Amino acid sequence: MSEAKNSDPKKLFIKTYGCQMNVYDSERMAEALGGKGYVETDSPDDADMILLNTCHIREKAAEKVYSELGRFKGLKAEKPDLKIGVAGCVAQAEGEEIMRRQPLVDLVVGPQAYHRLPEMEAKTRTGEKALDTDFPEEDKFALLKSRPKARRAPAAFLTVQEGCDKFCAFCVVPYTRGAEVSRPVERVLSEARDLVERGVREITLLGQNVNAYHGQGPNGTWSLAQLIWALNDVDGLERIRFTTSHPNDMDDDLIAAHGECEKLMPYLHLPVQSGSDKILKRMNRSHTAESYLRLIERIRAARPDILISGDFIVGFPEEDDQDFEDTMALIREVNYGQAFSFKYSTRPGTPAAERALVDDAVASERLYRLQALIAEQQRGIQDSMVGRDVSVLFEKAGRFEGQMVGKSDYLHAVHVADAGAEVGDIARVRIVESGPNSLKGELIR
Ligand code: SAH
Ligand code: SF4
Ligand code: F3S
Repeated sequence: MSEAKNSDPKKLFIKTYGCQMNVYDSERMAEALGGKGYVETDSPDDADMILLNTCHIREKAAEKVYSELGRFKGLKAEKPDLKIGVAGCVAQAEGEEIMRRQPLVDLVVGPQAYHRLPEMEAKTRTGEKALDTDFPEEDKFALLKSRPKARRAPAAFLTVQEGCDKFCAFCVVPYTRGAEVSRPVERVLSEARDLVERGVREITLLGQNVNAYHGQGPNGTWSLAQLIWALNDVDGLERIRFTTSHPNDMDDDLIAAHGECEKLMPYLHLPVQSGSDKILKRMNRSHTAESYLRLIERIRAARPDILISGDFIVGFPEEDDQDFEDTMALIREVNYGQAFSFKYSTRPGTPAAERALVDDAVASERLYRLQALIAEQQRGIQDSMVGRDVSVLFEKAGRFEGQMVGKSDYLHAVHVADAGAEVGDIARVRIVESGPNSLKGELIR
């Protein structure tokens, strides 16, 4: 056996692609391997294990994995003991193929099986390959070791719901993450309390469909709104956010919470994907442009200053000029503070993959126009913050002596000179200037 001595910790390099859920999973994988004597390193060159935590959402994201793996060839030749693993959604979707296409891969682990990483690592150390892309019955979170007691950055992610049952016609998530599962209330609350003890002041609750949360709690099943209200009572936790939400799961209690729950931040990521009912129907979104707009209206009635964020796909199969103009009209009506937009990417195995593609140049042109409109709205909302007072959670020191950088309630990056503050402090700040990527604020003494 060539097990490393306990005295020299093995080094783990993890590279994370994709969504926040992968960021959370990477942390948990590092913790799981921490039990096997691994410490994290930020350079692949001195690693004993490299893990790529991958994303399958668009073709480009998936292909990146293979080019990244190719780059480790030299390293592996120099260091035969180096183990290379692929985790995340590409692992789930193409596990066997990865092993075939890239022989230097030792380990493939899907997003629902990574609590088994320690045993898998041991297997690779005997020279064997390890592949696990099960959707196990057992709850991986319950089996993962409790988290180490180290101090944490003040803003943290906490996955509360996983998987998706919505099956939008373009999307791989229901296949890579599996069916919707919610973590029990008590586990979420105890993880939250533990994070707070370690310095966390803001928690973003995560799920592919986080507002479909229905966790087992005292007296039955709890909704996301109930969970948020319980977190509101956790002393020391100051801010709560959640992402990503589906329009169809915004229930009355959750909308009301935006107006009434003190710690719930005025920011909502609510993807609509398209403003054309024809396209929404073909996407299997089961909401219309109109129902989305009325929903936004109700949310704004509960919390008038809320910042709305979204996701858009342009060039979905059979999207014509009018469909695209309908999307632009919806964007104009909502006025987004932030949005992610993508050109449609065909995903093998999804229903939309069967449909006729939009000309690529046309799709690119639409994406360009849509992004220009979003950028204009985003800038407008950012500029409108000037003169307003916000709260800022400081996350790190800035480039200049005494300067601190953090996030406002609306998730804008804010920098403050001579803040006289520490990481983790929350201060009242007046916004005095709006720059291209951030706001400048002054402490309200
Ligand atoms: N669960 C979330 C989003 C998950 S994926 C939701 O329902 O909104 C994140 C975003 O990637 C999606 O909102 C969508 O805009 C985009 N996306 C997903 N599949 C895509 C595809 N095949 N091509 C282009 N963009 C895609
Ligand atoms: Fe994908 Fe739709 Fe589920 Fe979001 S709701 S993860 S876009 S299938
Ligand atoms: Fe990507 Fe998987 Fe997240 S496909 S967006 S990493 S759920």
